[in-house]
Amino acid sequence: MKQNLASSVRFILLLFLNVECLNEQSPPGKPEVLKCRSPEMETFTCWWKPGSDSGLPTNYTLLYNKEGKEQIYECPDYRTAGPNTCYFDKKHTHLWTSYNISVKATNEVGSNISNPHYVDVTSIVQPDPPVNLSLQVIQSAGILYLWAKWSPPPLVDVRSGWLILHYELRLKSEEREEWETIFVGQQAHYKVFKLHPGLKYIVQVHCMLDHGKWSEWSSESYIQIPNGNVQYKREQQCNPDNIQGSPLEGLSY
Ligand SMILES: *[C@@H]1O[C@H](CO)[C@@H](O)[C@H](O)[C@H]1NC(C)=O
Ligand SMILES: *[C@@H]1O[C@H](CO)[C@@H](O)[C@H](O)[C@H]1NC(C)=O
Ligand SMILES: *[C@@H]1O[C@H](CO)[C@@H](O)[C@H](O)[C@H]1NC(C)=O
Ligand SMILES: *[C@@H]1O[C@H](CO)[C@@H](O)[C@H](O)[C@H]1NC(C)=O
Repeated sequence: MKQNLASSVRFILLLFLNVECLNEQSPPGKPEVLKCRSPEMETFTCWWKPGSDSGLPTNYTLLYNKEGKEQIYECPDYRTAGPNTCYFDKKHTHLWTSYNISVKATNEVGSNISNPHYVDVTSIVQPDPPVNLSLQVIQSAGILYLWAKWSPPPLVDVRSGWLILHYELRLKSEEREEWETIFVGQQAHYKVFKLHPGLKYIVQVHCMLDHGKWSEWSSESYIQIPNGNVQYKREQQCNPDNIQGSPLEGLSY
């Protein structure tokens, strides 16, 4: 009887320890595919979020198959886009195809897999913002205007003519809360009239391809519009390229 009790106690103790161990060593939490984005319709990147930390070293693998195909592939490149990402280069990016993407977390106790994330490259296009936005105040034929120009995001191959970028510009004077947004079209420059003399303006541009979403707004550029009584430089007549009129010195930054 006494022996029986002792072994029961030992059994219960072992059971308790075992449960403790299982609690400490559990499979990883469920990861989540956050989003995928293609900056130029030629490559794309997916981001994921690890699940809750089980306290054990955990490996993540991104697995995918294509619509209607059985074969499962692993992420071709975990490095290029940084931690918790998978980069699909041109060779691995196929348009008009649905990708079924999941992330599997594995530790020494077990594994856990995210919900599938379905992606069609043409629907996740979002270019980087335009770069090198520059502003000048121009005085031409007695009219004062703001000349804004910028460059397309470097990744987008606009020269091939295959991809077309559309731009919007927004501006406000420093005191104001709300932006005025102007659809620019395909050109990478714009003239803004109707400016208030003496105010400082903030300008940004963003862009979009035929498919997908607008980019983030570019970084802000500032320009001070002179008061009416400033002496303007005369337009240089001899230079036929000088269609923009003459910049006012010290006003563009
Ligand atoms: C996967 O993670 C979820 C939540 O993070 C958890 O509830 C579930 O039990 C885990 N699955 C396995 C097999 O461990
Ligand atoms: C997508 O992938 C997941 C995980 O591999 C799988 O369970 C699911 O059946 C797949 N869905 C389709 C529509 O192929
Ligand atoms: C994680 O990956 C490394 C390198 O491939 C491997 O040595 C290790 O055993 C893996 N760990 C788990 C828990 O799968
Ligand atoms: C933007 O301006 C920088 C410095 O002036 C220049 O090196 C770079 O080539 C420009 N980028 C583009 C895309 O025009």
